[in-house]
Amino acid sequence: MLVRDMALLKEWHPVMRSDALGDQPVAVDVLGEKVVVFRTSNGVHAFKDLCIHRGVPLSLGRVDGDELVCAYHGWRYNGCGQCTRIPSLSASQSIPSKAHAFAYECKEARGILWVSLGEPEEGRHPLIDQPLESGHKEIAMGPYTLQAAGPRVIENFLDVSHFMFVHEGLLGDSAFPEIEDYHVHEVNGVLRSDEIVVYQPDPDGTGRGVYSHYVYEVFSPFCAAFTKRSRDSSEFMRLYLAVLPEANNMSTAFMVSERNYMLDEADELFIRFQDKLIEQDRLMLENQKPELLPLDLQAELHLKCDRISIAYRKKLREWGVTFGTE
Ligand code: FES
Ligand code: CO
Repeated sequence: MLVRDMALLKEWHPVMRSDALGDQPVAVDVLGEKVVVFRTSNGVHAFKDLCIHRGVPLSLGRVDGDELVCAYHGWRYNGCGQCTRIPSLSASQSIPSKAHAFAYECKEARGILWVSLGEPEEGRHPLIDQPLESGHKEIAMGPYTLQAAGPRVIENFLDVSHFMFVHEGLLGDSAFPEIEDYHVHEVNGVLRSDEIVVYQPDPDGTGRGVYSHYVYEVFSPFCAAFTKRSRDSSEFMRLYLAVLPEANNMSTAFMVSERNYMLDEADELFIRFQDKLIEQDRLMLENQKPELLPLDLQAELHLKCDRISIAYRKKLREWGVTFGTE
């Protein structure tokens, strides 16, 4: 395992889209740990991707009758990791008690498969532990692979003053670049900004301009969201970002959007729009220096409109996150 940050080991990490996991095992990398995920009639499972017999990746095997079968000598593991059959044993021999796979916590929620390498705290994850509100429609988006450190990706998502330049004509208008001062509060371990008002010429890709009120939230080192309300209507939209940091300069970003308007519109419209925004952000993210997010607050120059970024940097330091930071 590459990462020893305790704060990351006990988190849920997004590893793939639910709809990308079919009936056969898939190898994923979680913070440098090789993990195999697979689906049975009992749900989803994640094991260390290594057979205890002769060290072959279990992801080379197959799922058969709710069991994962190793490709090398056919040992069979149930969803809990217990070995249930070793074909080469004669009738008088029994399965050694040590014959099991190492199981990790794994869940499927909001269209994403999540794995934890430790013991995640129950009830705290906004996407895993909170159901979609009734009357809202959700879309899972991505994954987007970015050549950028995870904390840089989260911070870009929390950055409100880039809308008018990177996403000009869509999320912002460079004729209205000022951001009124706001504050960030911490409630039950979640960072939350006050409402920030932004004029947005075309925030959904449909050609409609609105004044939007943004509230940003940071739930954990690699999971954040903003909630956006229209000034002039009851329209509500929330976008979650969950990042799997793959290496110091590489991340995979998963997004889940929720909205209470344009409910009949095809998902494709919103997905294509988000894809376009990410491509605009990519140019900034993949060229930022230093690549790692500096936690020393003297290292870059901050403005009042960057309060949520400053709070995030302080919180990363408090969490003891070293991966992707300097
Ligand atoms: Fe897996 Fe032998 S290495 S069964
Ligand atoms: Co952006």
